[in-house]
Amino acid sequence: MTRPAILVARAVFPEVVSRLRQHFDVEDNPTDTIFTPAQLIQRLQGKQGAFTTGSERIGAELLAACPQLRVVSNMAVGYNNFDVEALTSRGVLATNTPDVLTETTADFGFALMMATARRMAESEQYLRRGEWTKWAYDMFTGSDIHGSTLGILGMGRIGQGIARRGALGFGMRVIYHNRSRLPAETEAAVGARYVDKATLLAQADHLVLVLPYTAENHHVIGAVELAAMKPTATLTNIARGGIVDDAALAQALRDRRIAAAGLDVFEGEPALNPALLTVPNVVLTPHIASASIATRRAMADLAADNLIAALTGGVPPTPINPAVLPLRT
Ligand code: DGY
Repeated sequence: MTRPAILVARAVFPEVVSRLRQHFDVEDNPTDTIFTPAQLIQRLQGKQGAFTTGSERIGAELLAACPQLRVVSNMAVGYNNFDVEALTSRGVLATNTPDVLTETTADFGFALMMATARRMAESEQYLRRGEWTKWAYDMFTGSDIHGSTLGILGMGRIGQGIARRGALGFGMRVIYHNRSRLPAETEAAVGARYVDKATLLAQADHLVLVLPYTAENHHVIGAVELAAMKPTATLTNIARGGIVDDAALAQALRDRRIAAAGLDVFEGEPALNPALLTVPNVVLTPHIASASIATRRAMADLAADNLIAALTGGVPPTPINPAVLPLRT
């Protein structure tokens, strides 16, 4: 019997590629070239599976050009790079990597919020520039985390992890808004109270965004929402670029409409709105919220588990569109 063929579209742990080679004919990408859409289609010819990351867009055009594709396995919890409707209508399984990154990403969201509130990046740059000549009572004064109000927009697993850290670790009052309200016992366990979006914007001292990117969530935070926040508030985005209108945010930061922002994701990343580079009151990181060694390895292992199960008659652990199972042979 011929072995299925797969593409590993980005560089990934060699041990994970070796494991995939035990099951499949593998074309990998050790030089980590970012394929253009046409190159991706060309590389996927004759492949039944693809190991992808958020940088590979899998849409209707690609699927039409790769009719033998059976499964796309994203090494990410977010899957806005997938057209799930097109995948499902073609009977192609999509999988992602939830759960394994929850705590690591919540750690990072909390750290980015703290770095933003306490002006860590701005003060470090000042020090590196050799400008620190004396202590001053108001030097880089920021805002407190403990005892303040934490607002969370999007209350899935990662949002709940951040809520727990805030409520239990830092004595924060935690409020959240989400498409659907959590059960009362979950709210109690994470120490968070449901509010409408207007209340969230008006009351949060530190607003953290943890919602998935969808067409409805495009620019959920724009000029109007920023104007509704406290001028002393911070905004942290670890969700996805496009949820925030980055141009409006850069303007709000310049005008001190809000105090500061921490951004791990950007519209059009890895490019970013150049205006964000010219404002001092923003902490910028290159989409690394899940980037601990252990968690990235767990994500790669889970993405491999999904591919192996899907193409060898097993049960993929974390399918996005399980309705397509069992897969066509
Ligand atoms: C995810 O898992 O969605 C993270 O953003 C990493 O891409």
